[in-house]
Amino acid sequence: MAHRVGIIGGDGIGPEVTAVAVDVVRAAGVALDTVDYDLGGRRYLATGEVLPDETLEQLREYDAILLGAVGTPEVPPGVLERGLLLKMRFALDLYVNLRPFKSPGNRFNDGVDFLVVRENTEGTYAGEGGFLRKDTRNEIATQGSVNTRMGVERCVRYAFDLARSRDRKHCTLVHKTNVLTFAGDLWQRTFDEVASDYSDVQTAYNHVDAACIYFVQDPGRYDVIVTDNLFGDILTDLGGAISGGIGRAASANLNPARTGPSLFEPVHGSAPDIAGTGRADPRAAVISAAMMCDFLGETGAADRIRKAVEQTDDKEGTTAQIGAAICGAL
Ligand code: IPM
Ligand code: MN
Repeated sequence: MAHRVGIIGGDGIGPEVTAVAVDVVRAAGVALDTVDYDLGGRRYLATGEVLPDETLEQLREYDAILLGAVGTPEVPPGVLERGLLLKMRFALDLYVNLRPFKSPGNRFNDGVDFLVVRENTEGTYAGEGGFLRKDTRNEIATQGSVNTRMGVERCVRYAFDLARSRDRKHCTLVHKTNVLTFAGDLWQRTFDEVASDYSDVQTAYNHVDAACIYFVQDPGRYDVIVTDNLFGDILTDLGGAISGGIGRAASANLNPARTGPSLFEPVHGSAPDIAGTGRADPRAAVISAAMMCDFLGETGAADRIRKAVEQTDDKEGTTAQIGAAICGAL
């Protein structure tokens, strides 16, 4: 049976890298039944629509969603981020944003192999807050951080399950408990309580600022990291930078409870400056598609795709040439 996948190529290089990712998955022997959705900056500029409710309802019916990148320079910041990406994360309850970082040694380090489990539906992203007396000299803006015990615990449990499945069995909480004494306290207590159910998993705690130093100076210490939404956003860009660049950074927005589809997307943006030139590196999209295969139970294909990406790591060329090299190495 073919897996039903909704494709949102999006803007800029998004459709180019997504097309390669779909080709690679099919070449790995996984049958996909795909439907393309025209969403993103282009659609917004043409029709004023970001994510119509009926489209969201259709997307709910897929086994998975594969997204390229959204954003065009003409669209004001926030419109597509809040209206499309975050709306899907919240509405589809994609509560784990899983971001793997794996690379051989480079000029920064001797090699890394860790994953960040980023909480994906709460924190400062929840949209709590607002303006008072906007556009006056006395205006006030607040932007709260929402942390529910349920939301934190399901994410932390996911991280411990993941750590348990790996050789090193190590899980680090990253937060800022010394300053964010309410949210941090809830996270730390939840982490400690969950840890007591996983006596085979070793634990550590780092403040997020210290974690930035370790990412650069000693990333080998990490196996699985669990952290809140905004810390995870920032830290995973740094993770990309120390492990082969943003052209390799993949992500899975997961609904582990499987009450709906999960969404897979490269971390990079739409890169309008190189769109249409054939110079986009499709690897981040391909690795994201491998994560989709994993989640759909196609673990053999997922492993083959990851191995093929590793084997063709030094291949340079156009988007299509890199895609062909990966397919050739499967
Ligand atoms: C990411 C992106 C998004 C985020 C933006 C585009 C809303 O930076 O996926 O990391 O902040 O989560
Ligand atoms: Mn980000």
